[in-house]
Amino acid sequence: MKSDNDRARRLRVRVLGAAAGGGLPQWNCRCSVCRLARTEPQRVVPRTQSSIAVSVDGEHWALINCAPEVLAQLQREPALQPRGDDRHTPIQSILVTNGDVDHVAGLLSLRERSPFRLYATPEIHGVLRDNPIFNVLAPDCVQRCDVALDSRIELLPGLMATVFAVPGKTALYLEGDQVDIGAEGESTVGVEFELDGQRLYYIPGCATVTPRLADRLDGAAALLFDGTLWRDDEMILAGVGHKTGQRMGHMSMSGEAGSMTALSDVAIDRRIFIHINNTNPVLIEDSPERREAEDAGWEIAFDGMEITP
Ligand code: MLT
Ligand code: MN
Ligand code: ZN
Repeated sequence: MKSDNDRARRLRVRVLGAAAGGGLPQWNCRCSVCRLARTEPQRVVPRTQSSIAVSVDGEHWALINCAPEVLAQLQREPALQPRGDDRHTPIQSILVTNGDVDHVAGLLSLRERSPFRLYATPEIHGVLRDNPIFNVLAPDCVQRCDVALDSRIELLPGLMATVFAVPGKTALYLEGDQVDIGAEGESTVGVEFELDGQRLYYIPGCATVTPRLADRLDGAAALLFDGTLWRDDEMILAGVGHKTGQRMGHMSMSGEAGSMTALSDVAIDRRIFIHINNTNPVLIEDSPERREAEDAGWEIAFDGMEITP
């Protein structure tokens, strides 16, 4: 028979930030979506940059990625705030899925001498070590833990997580003349959470769905997946940039080569787009693109969204 304790244990995810790098609206952007986010926030709900919080008991939490807006994100979430009289945090660990600014810059704001474990692949820990500003995370407080690809770690008491390589690329600020796009290694990872046989995936950046990735996702209770762009040339069409999604290491949602098609035959109970760029028309509540994504069974993440598969 299950005890009350067991019954209370379930996977729970809070979306802290659903936008891609730059946020929504982006400070310097007047694309049609950013403009609506300023003028009609009920039609385009503003979103902060990419991060989720995960727990199995509602008491202990892990952050996956740490956005520049982390302090505002925590301020919105009572469960993530200190309890008791003295200094405290329910955040026991933070795992980052790449070295991108939207995923690591918030670490600088968590420098106030509370202990937590910081998980990343050895390559990403190397990137953080090479940026000495991250030494504000005092080594006697913040334990930097290497995560090997495909190995299971206990991210929180009772919550197992596995990081796995997904096609991606190195962080923008590390790009040299030659950029290896779609490389699978330690630079871009997805995370599998597993509790009592139930699997949930968080993959905020992915350049393509390989057969191996599709196999892995088969049977998932929930998937939070890279929703950066609706179409590959979206930023060019919007007149706000010259890069395609592929060049940025992000596959688009729509079209023959898009994620909705690639995952249409994979059995996943809930499929949710996250890390959504401010140019993406799916962010407009009444857009045909939103309708098309929903008709294909996808949900569009928003800040504060709760997922309890
Ligand atoms: C990305 O997801 O491609 C990056 O966050 C881009 C950036 O660093 O602005
Ligand atoms: Mn990003
Ligand atoms: Zn914009």
